[in-house]
Amino acid sequence: MGSELGSFGPAIVRVRATIRRYPTFDRAALRPSGPPPTLGLMCGIVGYVGRRPALEVILEGLRRLEYRGYDSAGVAVLDGHGKLAVERKAGQLRNLEAQLARLDARSFEGSTGMGHTRWATHGGPTDRNAHPHTDSAGMLAVVHNGIIENFAPLRAELEASGIELASDTDTEAAAHLVALAYSGARPATGAAGASATAGDLAASVRAVCRRLQGAFTLVFTHADQPDLIVAARRSSPLVLGLGDGETFLASDVAAFIEHTRDAVELGQDQVVTITRDGYQVTDLDGEPVAVTPFRVTWDLAAAEKGGHDYFMLKEIEEQPSAIANTLRGHLTDRRIVLDEQRLTDTDLRDVDKVFVVACGTAYHSGLLAKYAIEHWTRLPCEVELASEFRYRDPVLDRQTLVMAISQSGETMDTLEAVRHAKQQKARVLAVCNTNGAQIPRESDAVLYTHAGPEIGVAATKTFTSQIAATYLVGLALAQARGTKYPDEVAREFAELETMPDAVAAALDGVGAARELARELASSRAVLFLGRHVGYPVALEGALKLKELAYMHAEAFAAGELKHGPIALIEEGLPVVVVMPSPKGRAVLHAKLLSNIQEITARGARTVVIAEEGDETIRPFAHHLLEVPAVPTLLQPLVSAVPLQVLAAEIARARGYDVDKPRNLAKSVTVE
Ligand code: M6R
Repeated sequence: MGSELGSFGPAIVRVRATIRRYPTFDRAALRPSGPPPTLGLMCGIVGYVGRRPALEVILEGLRRLEYRGYDSAGVAVLDGHGKLAVERKAGQLRNLEAQLARLDARSFEGSTGMGHTRWATHGGPTDRNAHPHTDSAGMLAVVHNGIIENFAPLRAELEASGIELASDTDTEAAAHLVALAYSGARPATGAAGASATAGDLAASVRAVCRRLQGAFTLVFTHADQPDLIVAARRSSPLVLGLGDGETFLASDVAAFIEHTRDAVELGQDQVVTITRDGYQVTDLDGEPVAVTPFRVTWDLAAAEKGGHDYFMLKEIEEQPSAIANTLRGHLTDRRIVLDEQRLTDTDLRDVDKVFVVACGTAYHSGLLAKYAIEHWTRLPCEVELASEFRYRDPVLDRQTLVMAISQSGETMDTLEAVRHAKQQKARVLAVCNTNGAQIPRESDAVLYTHAGPEIGVAATKTFTSQIAATYLVGLALAQARGTKYPDEVAREFAELETMPDAVAAALDGVGAARELARELASSRAVLFLGRHVGYPVALEGALKLKELAYMHAEAFAAGELKHGPIALIEEGLPVVVVMPSPKGRAVLHAKLLSNIQEITARGARTVVIAEEGDETIRPFAHHLLEVPAVPTLLQPLVSAVPLQVLAAEIARARGYDVDKPRNLAKSVTVE
């Protein structure tokens, strides 16, 4: 702990004297009650069988799921007398609602139905590709989340049987195949025993799902079965909500939490039949499967904007409590305790190398974890984009610990990296914000970030929570390997515990970033510079600006400037510089100060993130955004805050929806 690198040193967090209270997270209450929100994955699905007007329930659910995709939306309602009404529209949900308002409301009367909000994969974001899709007779409707990988031969098979396809999607094939199975017909090269499924929707769904490859949540209704919905799940989320005389299904409990907190999460390759009186779950062969209901413990407010214009703004402000909740309960008797630790102390002691795999913002938190892990444990730590990991030949064995960081726990690139690591016999530890998601399920151990639901597509509170969580992993490794004494571990943990206050203080100071946003909104491009832990922060700042404000934003390690990027500097170009502490990292501070002078001399307009009291920087910064002084390794937790605000406010000044940036979805389940 002697070196200035990463030493937490004495507590030097300067915050207000006010005592802040953060909403607490009851870890003990959560776990037995099962998974809270299943966030992540593209596309949102809602299904309802009950006594209320289904359309209202479905639209309300879709509003809460729109963060999952907003390329198009659609609904299907059964009127109870053999008629299926379907409406779908490209664009955000409000387009569909406007269209429905122009139609005769009576056509959508009925108490069974389903809805979908789409992130387009197969087939562009058009009306014709919007879900629900129907069979040729318009009797059966399906909505889908995921990708049916063998869609091409299935579509060819249907076309060979004379079926005309009305969309470019993989999903439509499932509609026709199930309708054929239900009618007892056998497609050209179809499944054996198709006639055995005649008139039985669940059996038809099971038979078709056995033929599907890929990831899917598929939900079906049939006009002949007015009080019934059948759904199937493989590698995509599906949760049931159990009400009184009504049953819901959805991609995320947020869709029905207003109506019931009793829920059931479906497992892999399971098929469920829901009626207003309950549900029945089987495997793909029709064998009954026992499932365990759980109670959702978080309240609706967690999934609402709470007076903010955007979820993202609320989530930025929630960072102090997200970090506090992520740390809570992890130090017991001066020992770091992780969550579901299916790795023994011996396993951790035997680790001789750490790999971090992640994507996007989670990757940036992984880059930061490297500084802490190597410093505290003296283990080599490599950080790799999950999408690249398995396509080379990483050297892994039983002594390698692979840490997979994922907010959603469902990102396909990260999931495949986890699977590759496991095949190579490495131990896998997931850092995840979504209880019970696929990545933690397939990992040997899991540490949850307790940031609560993050609805804004841009990751904010989960980024800072991931930093806190991965630092806990670093401390756990240091403890197991004996590279730190117990009192040192406890001291580092105590420093981490001061961070909610420091981040709250950083939030108090974002007024300057807000004002600056108006000025930067008309820029064509922005560069970001940082060194050491400031470099991943610069990368994250640039990512936020790209995805929210659609501006060209690029980050460089400041030392690289002279090796090429300095050629980009021109008159008036805004350059954001993340400064290290003049005390904690004096040498690097001096070097960055020189970089600032070099770029200023070439016309750059500098925006400098520096610690409060850093007077040396003042004469050289066109704009100064101050953050509280904290120990070096913890600096990213405070310096990320003004960058998040800056990106959000620039995007708003340019007139964009910060919760739903174009072309994106909350997480990405395609490779
Ligand atoms: O759910 P995950 O953390 O695995 O998601 C990884 C990235 O897709 C995600 O961080 C993405 O980069 C965010 N939009 C960034 O704001």
